[in-house]
Amino acid sequence: MAAKGREHFGSGLAAVMAMAGSAIGLGNIWRFPYMVGQNGGAAFIIIYLLSAFFLSLPILLSESILGRSTHAGTFGAMEKLAPGTKWKWLGFLTVISPLVILSYYSVVGGWSIEYLIKASGSGFGEDITSLFGTFIVRPWAPLVCHTLFLLLTAVIVSAGVKSGIERFNRISLPVLFVLIVVIMVYSLKLPGSGEGVRYLLKPDFSKITPSVAAAAMGQSFFSLSLGVGTILTYSSYMKKEENILTSGVGTAAFDLLFALIAGFAIMPAVFAAGIEPGAGPGLIFETLPYIFAKMGAAAPWLSRGVSILFFLTIVIAALTSSISMCEVGVAYLVEERRMTRGKATALIFLGTWLLGALCSLSFGPLSGVKLFGKTIFDLCDYLTSNYLMTFGSLLFVLFVGWKMKKEAVREEFTNGGLLKGNARLFGFVWFLIRYVAPLVILTIFVTNLIA
Ligand code: PHE
Repeated sequence: MAAKGREHFGSGLAAVMAMAGSAIGLGNIWRFPYMVGQNGGAAFIIIYLLSAFFLSLPILLSESILGRSTHAGTFGAMEKLAPGTKWKWLGFLTVISPLVILSYYSVVGGWSIEYLIKASGSGFGEDITSLFGTFIVRPWAPLVCHTLFLLLTAVIVSAGVKSGIERFNRISLPVLFVLIVVIMVYSLKLPGSGEGVRYLLKPDFSKITPSVAAAAMGQSFFSLSLGVGTILTYSSYMKKEENILTSGVGTAAFDLLFALIAGFAIMPAVFAAGIEPGAGPGLIFETLPYIFAKMGAAAPWLSRGVSILFFLTIVIAALTSSISMCEVGVAYLVEERRMTRGKATALIFLGTWLLGALCSLSFGPLSGVKLFGKTIFDLCDYLTSNYLMTFGSLLFVLFVGWKMKKEAVREEFTNGGLLKGNARLFGFVWFLIRYVAPLVILTIFVTNLIA
């Protein structure tokens, strides 16, 4: 049951900024460039673009329809639309999965804080390439940074939807775009950067296999925060008169733009330094500090400045995402368990801190603890990005496309027929939600299972 006097975002733009804030995160800066690097450059980007608009957007709209029509969090939305049915498990699942993501996400957020501190303080020192490897295996420092990151997240969320989340995103989003453009300009000016630009723009279609296509779509889900109830929850704070199509398209467009700029900020620098572009997850933590240091020989202050800005960008981008994950759990505890916002946030903090601590330690003291052949960190990442997000997305589109009445969906999508443009597009969007999205998600699911 949703509480009375529920908070709302102040305007449509505020809602887009919050959703774009959730979308723009480590996925854009950390994951996107190395996935492009490993999967055939521009060919990967083309599939990514297509899936963002024809697959991810319908899923995003489905979540928005569920959230905005019920003005309730994930659990409450299911209770309202399908009371007393098994759909409540979807409500539960999507309270739990963002919290699992938050746990390991805040470990990476913590690494970024450590790097920001290093960049602003003593710099990266001599052993720059081995720095990452030696840092993450230490027990204490990563744990302290993880705690700090999670604490920042909890403080913002506990301040409320309007005064915490909305305010933080309103300031952060423009700052993020300015920062990443500055870094891109620096990177594009490095001698030898042209090769990186060509790499991003020249498609190599021979690299496109079914599992690469599935990876591109999976990346698009992760980047748009789909299938784990964050978009649903944020949409539930949208007012009835807002247009969910424009906010959805706006969110997808901001997210895409940011990912592309981040690609052009990172790849040209990677090529300028003559480094292998498919370096994998360590790319931004191992490769970039090295590049910054190397460039630093010629212009130490400039390179120091850019590396501070770079890690600041990562920390802020990660925070705009982590608050959205935390809010899903907080909304559940406040609305369904009648807790105060402060208490709910504290509880979520404790739970995710604990799981996150295990994830953090799984690089060092707990590296021998393996489940299904994976460390705790890898297992959380693997389970959420390969299964929980796709599974949640599948259930959301099935719910909207097959469980809800077509007229109820049309009503919500067109604001009761008032939005003429949306009304004209409804047939197409309905087709994507009801048929295309479930089939493609199922295919990805099976590809992930057998790959
Ligand atoms: N979209 C975020 C990113 O790109 C990650 C995220 C996943 C956020 C799930 C919320 C929910 O980093």
